[in-house]
Amino acid sequence: MTDANALWGGRFAAGPAAIMERINASIDFDRRLYAQDITASQAHARMLAARKIITQADATAIEQGLDTILREIEAGEFEYSRALEDIHMNIEARLRELIGEPAGRLHTGRSRNDQVATDLRLWVRDAIDSLDTGLRHLQAALIDRAEQYAALVMPGFTHLQTAQPVTLGHHLLAYVEMFGRDRGRFADCRRRLNECPLGAAALAGTSFPIDRRQTAHELGFERPTANSLDSVSDRDFAIEFLSAASLTAIHISRFAEEIVIWCSQNFAFIQLSDAFTTGSSIMPQKRNPDAAELARAKAGRIIGAMTALLVVMKGLPLAYGKDMQEDKEPVFDAADNLALAIAATAGMVADLQANEAALRAAASAGFPTATDLADWLVRRLDMPFRDAHHVTGALVRLAEQENIGLAQLSLAQMQSVEPNISNDVYDVLSVDASVASRSSFGGTAPERVAAAAKLARQRFLADDGVAP
Ligand code: ARG
Repeated sequence: MTDANALWGGRFAAGPAAIMERINASIDFDRRLYAQDITASQAHARMLAARKIITQADATAIEQGLDTILREIEAGEFEYSRALEDIHMNIEARLRELIGEPAGRLHTGRSRNDQVATDLRLWVRDAIDSLDTGLRHLQAALIDRAEQYAALVMPGFTHLQTAQPVTLGHHLLAYVEMFGRDRGRFADCRRRLNECPLGAAALAGTSFPIDRRQTAHELGFERPTANSLDSVSDRDFAIEFLSAASLTAIHISRFAEEIVIWCSQNFAFIQLSDAFTTGSSIMPQKRNPDAAELARAKAGRIIGAMTALLVVMKGLPLAYGKDMQEDKEPVFDAADNLALAIAATAGMVADLQANEAALRAAASAGFPTATDLADWLVRRLDMPFRDAHHVTGALVRLAEQENIGLAQLSLAQMQSVEPNISNDVYDVLSVDASVASRSSFGGTAPERVAAAAKLARQRFLADDGVAP
């Protein structure tokens, strides 16, 4: 047993058992909230003075003391104590050492329950802002490469079977759309979380004449939260953040998986430099796409974090419960790992080199222009599409037997299946003709892709920040 806790005084005669201290203390992880905690406390102290709940002199001493603590923490000179449980009490205890009695007045009209809810909202808001910057950089990298590869043909797949030729630029722009929606979800989450719980106190509000609008405004929140019970017990914002993070991680993992496949010798669509690959200690020929594999794997822990917090919150009665202390580690871990995955993915996008010959060869294999042939039969011979599909199937079978592509079938061979086929059918059988023809809005024609890249630049990268 240690001494009774200094901060809650007389009611507890003996201190916590060692195991209690270990399960109860959050300082090992919630120290990451130090900057938010100090900012929020300073705003609270200013408000208390403005409302004449404490003196201006006390508020000034508190603000300056907190500035000193901020410097100590950032210089690595602050001594954290597990006995003091969490970041809030560690800072307050140090403040008392530094300024004495006025430190005890800071906690007027608030509780750790609204304090931690405020700190974590501020932290998540900052995390969203920096993830948004990371995603924007990733989009910028993708758009640059999409412009470069707007006309580079590659096989488009469904079921991972060759379907129709597309361009690499078009494929990369598909991810720009996904990351744009991800940014939209984070922005939406940010809008909803931007209300200030400070002043809800323990759960019921306070009898002091506080001004919640002032603190909300000073901390950059839109408004104070409306219900004190909800204020201290709501962790929706953290769960929404984790679900937006999960979906982003899913998109990262899909792209990372494609990078892994494309780098494989059996595809050889792209190459990553040494900067993003590792060798093998035993197989000298290897160039393993570890960064892509790890980016792919991050979805596992990020979805795990979301699931963890959902399950923590399930069935919790109002208002605050210590269960909710378990919200921080998943949020921190998901934010850190998502930021890392986004940055690594942006790095790989800038690094990758497309293997043009392999992409073109793969785009030409597997009768990728069969649909173009069927469409030609419909357009030129006025065939119903179902019949055209049938005729094309017979021509594919013939080419398969001869072990050649559709464009290599002679006109006589074509006419043996459908006598009305004429020479201009060859115009639609090349992969370049195929992609060029897909010029509908959102399609893969190189001109379309170049225009889409330009538009994506305006939509997602413009400084006036057109909302994603
Ligand atoms: N460390 C706590 C948390 O993260 C702070 C709030 C504690 N409140 C309380 N009534 N014990 O949730």
